[in-house]
Amino acid sequence: MSSSLEIPDDEKGYDLELFCVPKHYENDLERVFIPHGLIMDRTERLARDIMRDMGEHHIVALCVLKGGYKFFADLLDYIKVLNRNSDKSVPLTVDFIRLKNYSNDESTNSVKVIGGEELSALSGKVCMNIETDIVETGKTMQTLLSILNGYNPKMVKVVSLLVKRTPRSSGYRPDYTGFEIPDKFVVGYALDYNEYFRDLSHICVVSEQGKQKYKV
Ligand code: IMP
Repeated sequence: MSSSLEIPDDEKGYDLELFCVPKHYENDLERVFIPHGLIMDRTERLARDIMRDMGEHHIVALCVLKGGYKFFADLLDYIKVLNRNSDKSVPLTVDFIRLKNYSNDESTNSVKVIGGEELSALSGKVCMNIETDIVETGKTMQTLLSILNGYNPKMVKVVSLLVKRTPRSSGYRPDYTGFEIPDKFVVGYALDYNEYFRDLSHICVVSEQGKQKYKV
């Protein structure tokens, strides 16, 4: 397992005034927690680590929607840069799955897989890289992995942009992690709170006002 960038519990993040955030969210956020530039720099390195480990295997990159779409797109862009600029390159195909298990900022016990019937097309593939936004308890990824294992893939690697340090963790750890973060609810860079904040470039902490405003 490769290392991750560990953000300590006492990390305060950055004043919103120092960055550009959409006007419609200004009062709904507390702080910028991980600026977009840092996400991109860390993602570039993850791409290098993945390519180093994949050897010559065909990669089936599986995007976990909706929260993983930004990370998936940016990670693949970096992998494509490596692919076209080195002597060794690997074929890459993409697929998409949607999982839903959240209500407000609480993880629910049931994980709904939408689009799962298409997974049968992935069976027997040499390598699958699952790209997701965040692992909290780990239940969502463990559920997805148990479904995928039913198709007997030869190798499955999970890449998560974020892992949350939380007592609710099942102990599951992805193969590659961008950042390990404290036990806070974060949004932005495609992560949402009841579908809001996906249109935010930085990863931010939601304010109490934001939670109330977008509560369902
Ligand atoms: P787990 O099953 O508890 O690991 O939950 C993982 C899923 O919960 C992620 O794919 C997200 O959809 C959602 N999630 C967990 N924590 C956060 C958060 O801080 N912000 C936004 N979504 C989150």
